[in-house]
Amino acid sequence: MAINWFPGHMHKARKEIKKVMPQMDLIIEVVDARIPFSSENPLVPSLRGDTPLIKVLNKRDLADPDITEQWQAWIEQERGVRAVTLTHNQRQEALGILKLAEEMTPGHDRQKSALRVMILGIPNVGKSTLINTLAGRPAAKTGNEPAVTRAQQAIKLPDNVLLYDTPGFLWPKLSPEQCGYRLAVTGAIRSAVLDFEDIALFEADYLVAHYPEQVTTRYGLEKTPVDGLALMDAVAVKRRFLGRGGVPDLHKVSEVLLNEFRAGTLGRISLETPAMIEKELIEARAR
Ligand code: G4P
Repeated sequence: MAINWFPGHMHKARKEIKKVMPQMDLIIEVVDARIPFSSENPLVPSLRGDTPLIKVLNKRDLADPDITEQWQAWIEQERGVRAVTLTHNQRQEALGILKLAEEMTPGHDRQKSALRVMILGIPNVGKSTLINTLAGRPAAKTGNEPAVTRAQQAIKLPDNVLLYDTPGFLWPKLSPEQCGYRLAVTGAIRSAVLDFEDIALFEADYLVAHYPEQVTTRYGLEKTPVDGLALMDAVAVKRRFLGRGGVPDLHKVSEVLLNEFRAGTLGRISLETPAMIEKELIEARAR
């Protein structure tokens, strides 16, 4: 897959995280609950060393609850790290993550020194939202300041917790190649390389295979389409997205499918399961 993340950027982020990581008592990695594997940052396992990690499966409100449960169990068993789920505007629940952080750092005395927690994750997973929720005010910094600047701007939370924002810019995982499409469907990456209609077709194929009832109901279809393209054609007819000679306007259909998925209008949908990912990884290795 030809999505390029600038090597210079990646190198800088790696260096900066490496620099500040030893000062951290715990890491919170935020991922998108609809794509917990595809939205991970591949750097985290190697850079964190022994630092305790909590994985937050955020945007729970948009994800399929049964699959989110499978992911939580998979992450805890296969990765051996704690996994919690979250959705925005749940301050008590978000504060529960700090409680868990305290339990996971039993040797740390907060009377003596602050508990240093670093939040990281790829763009758009909800880091700023979580930081603001925890702080109870708009506190998340935007932009791409160096780690040292950020380290001086730690956000003070109750109970002597210091929260550090991600230094630099973290990129997502783009292998197996389906990961790139899933990230594009959620809107996490904007790629000039992946074709807009191909992204929607990837989504349409997935919806027909895994959530046929949701799409037939949503678009008022008489029968379940045989595949993604048939779904796109059927939506074009229903919504009258037809060009000259009655040709389906697939660009307009793509906009509807992607926007409605991203907004949750199609219901709670997850784009990957642990079983699916395990299979894709085996296939990718065999290639
Ligand atoms: P980031 O710092 O990791 O880049 O992510 P950020 O918090 O900016 O969140 C990215 C988008 O995801 C925002 O929407 C935010 O409102 C939304 N979001 C965050 N957490 C949740 C959640 O639990 N559920 C849902 N449904 N959405 C969530 P946006 O459209 O980019 O901005 P805005 O409309 O909020 O201004």
